Amino acid sequence: MQTVHLTVPFSYSVIWTKNIFNKDNLSFLDAIDFNESTKKQNCLFIVENTINDLHENLNCQIKDYTSYHNKYIKFLGYEVFKGGELCKNLHFVEKICKVFKEYKVCRHSFIIIIGGGSFIDAIGFAATITHRGLRQIRIPTTVLSQNDSAVGVKNAINAFNNKNFIGTFAPPFAVINDNQFLQTLSQRYIISGITEGIKVALIKDLKFFNWIVLNADKLKTSDSKELQYFIEKTANLHISHIENSGDPFEATAARPLDFGHWAAHKLEQMSNGTLLHGEAVSIGICIDAHYAKYLGYLSTSELEQIINLFKTLGLPIYNELLTTLKNGELDVFEGINDFREHLGGELHITLPKTIGDSIQIFKLDKDYLKKIFKYLKEL
Ligand SMILES: NC(=O)c1ccc[n+]([C@@H]2O[C@H](COP(=O)([O-])OP(=O)(O)OC[C@H]3O[C@@H](n4cnc5c(N)ncnc54)[C@H](O)[C@@H]3O)[C@@H](O)[C@H]2O)c1
Ligand SMILES: [Zn+2]
Repeated sequence: MQTVHLTVPFSYSVIWTKNIFNKDNLSFLDAIDFNESTKKQNCLFIVENTINDLHENLNCQIKDYTSYHNKYIKFLGYEVFKGGELCKNLHFVEKICKVFKEYKVCRHSFIIIIGGGSFIDAIGFAATITHRGLRQIRIPTTVLSQNDSAVGVKNAINAFNNKNFIGTFAPPFAVINDNQFLQTLSQRYIISGITEGIKVALIKDLKFFNWIVLNADKLKTSDSKELQYFIEKTANLHISHIENSGDPFEATAARPLDFGHWAAHKLEQMSNGTLLHGEAVSIGICIDAHYAKYLGYLSTSELEQIINLFKTLGLPIYNELLTTLKNGELDVFEGINDFREHLGGELHITLPKTIGDSIQIFKLDKDYLKKIFKYLKEL
């Protein structure tokens, strides 16, 4: 017998800039890896309708930019589609794959996706399965997608009543975070996007958590320097996990960045879009933080700090969906089964051991969870 082991490297850039399509901004050229010797790069722009509507000049700006830099860029087209959680479905993905076919994109073509996390998830997935992978440039336009989803290596859509049931691990070619897009984002979405930063701080970075507590009020506005710092710090914590955890494609069952998500994914799906991802994660973290206290990890004062932070930000800590029954059992508990199934049969739940550090547990006591739900309702 002979075994050959291969190591296949991946790399991508995360670029921070402002006013990406100003003619003298070279970040986009950097992202497509231009150099004097390369031939023109095919670029197809796929834009979420909200962004196209709210940033009225975007279409013209992109056309001007690409024609100004036409030595390096071949502009293929600018297409607009509706985004949001509901676009994460197979039918939409098929439609996008057909668009790729119509534009005759090749494996070296760049698909530039401009929109929120849901839009990037869906178009990104279509891009990863067309010709076994087109080059994705993600330009995320929400707090959540700039600090978490777009800088990562996952693409997914919802199917069969399950969040992110169909998807791929496929790193983008590059990610460009431009704070200018956030200026049109509603406060509800800004706040919802903050949850993922609290999540990662709770399991990895006490100092950052304390900073968030101190600056919580300033994070609610799109143009604050504190929000910009928060997004960059959160993105860097996610990036650093992907780069250094030794498990970028989540081959093992442990899934630290999914802290708070077993309940969140189920609640989000049960709410039919009325709960935003970050809002559902906020409730999920409150549940799991209480569980961590029950197991003797978090102290009472740490737990209070966490709950108060969510309250200060105006994020939910409870939802009536936690009382919904299905076949005589709380429907949210289906989230535990979904999570177990997704992880490969064995349940791994990440909890904060103390603020800034984490621990894995392998079962959840449903009776105690019910007590937590009641307690959160009273709070
Ligand atoms: N792939 C991953 O690793 C990963 C990680 C975390 C979350 N996610 C996914 O990300 C999705 C949530 O993403 P999201 O929070 O960005 O929400 P979203 O993409 O659903 O966008 C929310 C709303 O904001 C609008 N919008 C987007 N940018 C805007 C802007 N600049 N100004 C005004 N309106 C704007 C959109 O049209 C939409 O209506 C979920 O589906 C979640 O599962 C994926
Ligand atoms: Zn999340």
